[in-house]
Amino acid sequence: MPILFDSEKEIFHLSNSAISYVMGIEKEKYITHRYFGRTLPFYSGSNALLQIDRGFATNPDKADRRFSLNSLLMETSTQGTGDHRISNYQIRRSNGTTVTNFVYHTHSIFTGKPSLKGLPSLRAAIAETLEIVLIDEIQKLEMILSYTLFEEYPVITRSVRFVNHSEDTVFLENAGSMMIDFPRSDFDMVTLNGSHTNEANISRQSLHTGVQKIESTRGTSSPQHQPFLALVDAKTDEFQGEVYAFHLVYSGNFTAQVEVEQYGSSRVQIGIQPETFEWCLGPSEDFQTPEVVINYSTSGLNGMSQTFHHLYQNHLAPAPWQKQERSILLNTWEANYFDFHEADLLKQADLAKETGIELFVLDDGWFGQRNDDTTSLGDWFENQEKLPQGIVGLAEKIHRKGLTFGLWFEPEMISENSRLFEAHPEWALQVPDYPLTEGRRQFVLDLSQAAVQEYLIAVLSKYLSTGKIDYIKWDMNRHLTEVGSLAYPAEQQKEISHRYVLRLYQVLDTITKCFPNCLFENCSSGGGRFDPGMMYYMAQTWTSDNTDALCRSKIQYGYSLLYPPIMMGAHVSPVPNHQVGRKTSLHTRGLIAMSGNFGYELDLTSLANTERIEIMEQINFYKAHRRLLQFGKFYRLRSADEYFTSAWLIKNDTEAMIFYFNGLARPAVPVNYLKTRYLDDQAAYKNTETGEIVSGAELNDAGIAIPRIKEDFSTLLFHWKKV
Ligand code: DGJ
Repeated sequence: MPILFDSEKEIFHLSNSAISYVMGIEKEKYITHRYFGRTLPFYSGSNALLQIDRGFATNPDKADRRFSLNSLLMETSTQGTGDHRISNYQIRRSNGTTVTNFVYHTHSIFTGKPSLKGLPSLRAAIAETLEIVLIDEIQKLEMILSYTLFEEYPVITRSVRFVNHSEDTVFLENAGSMMIDFPRSDFDMVTLNGSHTNEANISRQSLHTGVQKIESTRGTSSPQHQPFLALVDAKTDEFQGEVYAFHLVYSGNFTAQVEVEQYGSSRVQIGIQPETFEWCLGPSEDFQTPEVVINYSTSGLNGMSQTFHHLYQNHLAPAPWQKQERSILLNTWEANYFDFHEADLLKQADLAKETGIELFVLDDGWFGQRNDDTTSLGDWFENQEKLPQGIVGLAEKIHRKGLTFGLWFEPEMISENSRLFEAHPEWALQVPDYPLTEGRRQFVLDLSQAAVQEYLIAVLSKYLSTGKIDYIKWDMNRHLTEVGSLAYPAEQQKEISHRYVLRLYQVLDTITKCFPNCLFENCSSGGGRFDPGMMYYMAQTWTSDNTDALCRSKIQYGYSLLYPPIMMGAHVSPVPNHQVGRKTSLHTRGLIAMSGNFGYELDLTSLANTERIEIMEQINFYKAHRRLLQFGKFYRLRSADEYFTSAWLIKNDTEAMIFYFNGLARPAVPVNYLKTRYLDDQAAYKNTETGEIVSGAELNDAGIAIPRIKEDFSTLLFHWKKV
């Protein structure tokens, strides 16, 4: 059994073939953190808790002045009784005070992994769960720390549940999902940060004394910060070294932080962002926090990514899409924007079919008076001038051409200039007396209201139940302001940010369960809500509104820390690129897009014949290697330097491809052998272009000679088959 409890020593030991996670119960009250790392055959307690008589330390046990919560390595914080580090929770009592005293009460160990009420979480796997119940006897409150150990992954998921057994209402002011005290602070902290069109920049800094944190208060997880942090050894790189990674399965405001405290330990904490949150917990009610995925690697960041990729594709993405190949799509956005008529679309569709494209996606602009972005969100009825026979008419014609059909929606939004806003101004998020702030000329619907939820389900069901829509792109193009609801009383206004996310999950749950054969693509102006919470409902995400190949090599590289290529929508778009004006070759654009979930987003009617032929060749190539490119193992081999050079490998049991992006041509070209590192040492590989046969060991260790490239943004592809 992988989760053991030693009742004599009061030690919990969670272990599988890769990891051990050890906790103790100290003084029969406090859950302490004792060890997390590679598997220990058994744990005896060689690293006994250091109890030192320290100045200024407060002592909960009068008889023992060496024992203090001031510096104890713990699994959850305490509140107002001597632990002064960042906290994992805070509860306000109805009398206004905020002291609690949770102590160990009981625990249970059981097979499997319970799902979380109302929240996305990793799906069932071979796993075992430990629940530790702490109670505050004075207030009759319960806090349940939940740990699920996955048998086949170096992964533990954690979450917390609060239960109110009293007659009084209490207010959760902070409800973090996880906390660990590491007995060291000689780590680097790795996070992914950015902005719209510049997502997923990898940031790495050594920890320093005090608190370092990233967070979102934007209502979504945001392009600014991914709800993820990793602590790595200073010597850890892509290929080797220890990594402790934490990723929150949540799509709203979050905080991820580390405090290096006075004696050199570091406290990691992650959960819902506390300043934009509060929850009114009435008698007999409970509150479930989102889940955190904790992933340990001893083989560097690539090791961490392998675990996330496999776990997310097989235990997070919706079941129908875990093994299913994805169609090559054509999206109308960068080809047409708002300006199209059915006749233009059908011309595009004909050419799409000719080139081998399989899915035709109509983006923004098909509804209400939507001829630009100032109007009509909420008016989800077809614009008859553009689509005389409506969506169904168009979809039927597209289907008859042998293509499947996809449609864009932005369900959570409402334009001031819309019939919906005229009819229901009270459906927008708002607070009394203050004007509504616009973002992209639109407001946000108040999803916390049941009526809004019903409306969204009805609108989407109306289109999906026609059976003509095979794919939906679910967009969300602004952050939340005036977060308040006319439907809730004063004491619940701070619940609205979280209620928004909960209702969004409910809508997604209902729709994706009713229409399991429709593929949903998550989008928030690109990767603005690219998080594991959304990936539970939608199998892929539009990675970035920046489609420039050079920028994309960096953005996709960053996201690949967490997500496999199949989850990252990537399209070949026109040049000069619409976001940065850069011209890159069709060859390079094709290879960058193939490194993700492949598609096109350009006007096929305006291309030269030679370009259409090249596109056809790309599509044929992609189809021939689709299984490798969509389901192969993805490894980063070289990270983007100041010349934007990067390289990665995708392999399966029979073949492998290396994508080498030269970025900017450079003078004084350095010696350039690229080691493949992850091929099978014992296997022989045949280069499909030159016919040369090389051992995996040689490619891994001696590497491939990268020739001098006298051209910007050039890309090389190496392809080997096992012989
Ligand atoms: C933002 C998306 O990221 C784009 O791809 C496109 O769908 C536009 N919205 C449409 O308004």
